[in-house]
Amino acid sequence: MLDPESRPDAFHVAIIMDGNGRWAQRRRRPRTAGHVAGAEAVRRTVEAAPALGITTLTLYAFSADNWKRPRTEVDHLMRLFRSHLHSECGRCVENGVRLNVIGRRDRLPAGLGDTIAAVEYRTRQGDRLHLRIAIDYSARDALVAAAAGMDKDGIPSREGFGAALAKAMNASPGPEDVDLLIRTGGEHRLSDFLLWESAYAELMFLDKAWPDFTAKDLEAAVRVFLARDRRFGGLTSTAGFKPNHSDRAEEAGS
Ligand code: IPE
Ligand code: IPE
Ligand code: MG
Repeated sequence: MLDPESRPDAFHVAIIMDGNGRWAQRRRRPRTAGHVAGAEAVRRTVEAAPALGITTLTLYAFSADNWKRPRTEVDHLMRLFRSHLHSECGRCVENGVRLNVIGRRDRLPAGLGDTIAAVEYRTRQGDRLHLRIAIDYSARDALVAAAAGMDKDGIPSREGFGAALAKAMNASPGPEDVDLLIRTGGEHRLSDFLLWESAYAELMFLDKAWPDFTAKDLEAAVRVFLARDRRFGGLTSTAGFKPNHSDRAEEAGS
């Protein structure tokens, strides 16, 4: 997809995987069937990402607010995360995928926490794709925790805050700016996902429910993204990528 010559060092795609429940309800099936089908879409998406030049893929699987859902649905999701991580671990190792689960760990069922730690360890050497799955994640909670953890005597900087934020959400390495943020399921909102990291993200909202999302849809989204004109407040179009994410003086003097 991306010409290897012009391929950037980092291309971060984040996806709010929404619409599982409605997908199932339209088929007169329980909402949980939508989550099972959604796990298949995750597998397809992870498999397709590296060939499209994506280096980091962050998937929103369970928000801190999703604890408000009925116990049966939450329990089903927690079991599904665990079995999916178990079944996908070997494939991740084979395909050079490094997994990192971002979000709180202290409210997860113990078995899931152990599985996460084991899969993160086993996949630690993956260098083709950094796959981040957000579970019990809230961007605002992470921001508050990061602010509380900042060195009170130091001079706050974006970099320093970024490092504190990464620590607050169990992310490694530091938070990466999102290039393209996709939400499936027809809603046009962020639902507390990656608020800091999406400052200049290109936003894309698809009506399609997450279980119907395919590799072709991901490719189409990347194509639309590459045709977008990103200026980062300046006047120069960067056609998709900012050459240097930390360079804020690119227009100076011109
Ligand atoms: C997204 O799909 C998955 C989770 C939030 C766990 P939903 O379960 O929100 O599906 P809809 O939006 O109700 O259709
Ligand atoms: C956002 O979807 C969270 C995930 C996709 C995991 P929700 O379905 O929970 O968001 P709202 O309630 O529609 O904002
Ligand atoms: Mg939803």
